Amino acid sequence: MLLSKRLLWGIYFINLIYEKVFCQQVPCAARSYGQSSIICVCNATYCDTVEPESRLPQGYANMFISTLAGQRLEKSSISFTHQPSKTAQVTLEVKPQSVYQTMLGFGGAFTDATGINILSLSLPAQYHLIQSYFGSMGLEYTLGRIPMASCDFSTHLYSYDDSPGDLGLANFTLAMEDLKYKIPIIQKAQSISRHKISLFGSPWSAPAWMKTSQNMTGYGTLIGNPGGPYYKAWANYFVRFLEEYRKYNITLWGLTAQNEPTDGYIHNFPFQAMGWYPDQQKDFIALDLGPAMKAGGFSDVKLMILDDTRLNLPYWAEKVFSHQSNASMYVSGIAVHWYEDFIAPTLSLDVTHKEYPDKFILATEACITGNFPSKVSLGNWENAEKYAHSIIEDASHWVTGWSDWNLALDMEGGPNWVKNFVDSPIIVNAKADEFYKQPMFYAMGHFSKFVTPGSQRIEMSQDTSVEDFESIAFQRPDGSVAVVILNRGTSPVLTAIHDPLVGYLNRTVPPRSLITFTWWR
Ligand SMILES: *[C@@H]1O[C@H](CO)[C@@H](O)[C@H](O)[C@H]1NC(C)=O
Ligand SMILES: *[C@@H]1O[C@H](CO)[C@@H](O)[C@H](O)[C@H]1NC(C)=O
Ligand SMILES: *[C@@H]1O[C@H](CO)[C@@H](O)[C@H](O)[C@H]1NC(C)=O
Ligand SMILES: *[C@@H]1O[C@H](CO)[C@@H](O)[C@H](O)[C@H]1NC(C)=O
Ligand SMILES: *[C@@H]1O[C@H](CO)[C@@H](O)[C@H](O)[C@H]1NC(C)=O
Ligand SMILES: *[C@@H]1O[C@H](CO)[C@@H](O)[C@H](O)[C@H]1NC(C)=O
Repeated sequence: MLLSKRLLWGIYFINLIYEKVFCQQVPCAARSYGQSSIICVCNATYCDTVEPESRLPQGYANMFISTLAGQRLEKSSISFTHQPSKTAQVTLEVKPQSVYQTMLGFGGAFTDATGINILSLSLPAQYHLIQSYFGSMGLEYTLGRIPMASCDFSTHLYSYDDSPGDLGLANFTLAMEDLKYKIPIIQKAQSISRHKISLFGSPWSAPAWMKTSQNMTGYGTLIGNPGGPYYKAWANYFVRFLEEYRKYNITLWGLTAQNEPTDGYIHNFPFQAMGWYPDQQKDFIALDLGPAMKAGGFSDVKLMILDDTRLNLPYWAEKVFSHQSNASMYVSGIAVHWYEDFIAPTLSLDVTHKEYPDKFILATEACITGNFPSKVSLGNWENAEKYAHSIIEDASHWVTGWSDWNLALDMEGGPNWVKNFVDSPIIVNAKADEFYKQPMFYAMGHFSKFVTPGSQRIEMSQDTSVEDFESIAFQRPDGSVAVVILNRGTSPVLTAIHDPLVGYLNRTVPPRSLITFTWWR
């Protein structure tokens, strides 16, 4: 079994080199499930790829377009003109001298559900799936979230130490799920990626015995107070997690102090959660977690606070970073989730950045929860627009990267032990040995593949406002520019993009489309 596995991976590695050398782009095998748009079908022998960018001479731009009508990151080139088009409705002016935040990347989460779904496919189909996200002919994701122990996208409740009273963590051990569903997939992603993947861990709950509720679900918090034995044990649990993953050559870039700390203060909260008030998180970081990470040799791991909706900002940051403690010196960033964005203005991000310009803001979780009648909506274009809109909005307000939730779910939107099913950019149909790339998958790609780590957001002005028309610009580490335009409207928009160094790009942005332009200056 092991030998044949290796052989298969070997064959597909040769296949990868072949694709690389001959740059053979494989088109989308479109299928309709009666939604607004199509999905692209992949199986053991077939999977669409994205044609790599060309290093074009000055005066030309690459253009990648996806549309409701069915184009998926379709590549073409377009030349700059010296004159603006007289028919342009909108002129965008790129201003690379005005620089905002530096981008970390885009990605998704290695949940138990993700691993279970990937492993439910044949080996060649598994290869195609991992390649689709992390390969050079795929989306080239560079961010990955790892739930520490179980979350709702697990099949059951477990922690890394279920021995009651084991404050010394003598029985701390990774779960079968880490060894089977997370670590091997992360290792494969790393082995095929040409980028460093910034991985970060997030806990949902401490072991039940460490909590006031004696339960990983529902209302509950750690026993005692910051600085006390349970808080110390919980801090060491993070260090043990980092150490165990390192044994598998997986070095984490970051940690969030708690997934959605406000959930654990909701009565009867249905799945794993643990409650924190911002003052409590501040004291835990200052007295326990910060010092434990330092003592364990992990002070370079980027610690993030909040990991919850931006509705909590700037209040949460103001509490944690208050001068009464040392918490701030251990914290690198603030993690936000997109749920409730519709009632939380972007001003919360702007104010937080203004108050704490040396702390980055990272979007660490988003997914579509509201599809009806079923949680998985195959071919739904509106969901792609929601992803792209959120990324443009966030990155326009200091957010440095955007991590999706589950990388792959099944036809139901699971598995999830509390049946909290949701949608995902890749849906796995194990019975057919197929997986489906949703419009959301390509929406992620319009950013992840082109806005490479280290890119900086730059200013781009727009002369007239057009409803449902949004755009954003970045300068990449090699000086090239990437512009992404989202048209959620039902009319085409004649657009001119002006780069003072190069000229005008004149292009009609079709209705219901997403376009990425890249060029060298
Ligand atoms: C895989 O997909 C390709 C392209 O759609 C198709 O031609 C082929 O028959 C599929 N293979 C199987 C086993 O379904
Ligand atoms: C700009 O594009 C529009 C439609 O795409 C076309 O009619 C017009 O001639 C173009 N103008 C220039 C200057 O290229
Ligand atoms: C560790 O687990 C073993 C087996 O369940 C148990 O006997 C032992 O008491 C545990 N150790 C601690 C320190 O809790
Ligand atoms: C944990 O809490 C849930 C409700 O959130 C309850 O159904 C379950 O019985 C509790 N388990 C234990 C071991 O107390
Ligand atoms: C980790 O990487 C080192 C050096 O690249 C290698 O020697 C070692 O075998 C790897 N360990 C595991 C468990 O993969
Ligand atoms: C903050 O840390 C310094 C050492 O870095 C220590 O001397 C001081 O007591 C700490 N302050 C608090 C309030 O913990």
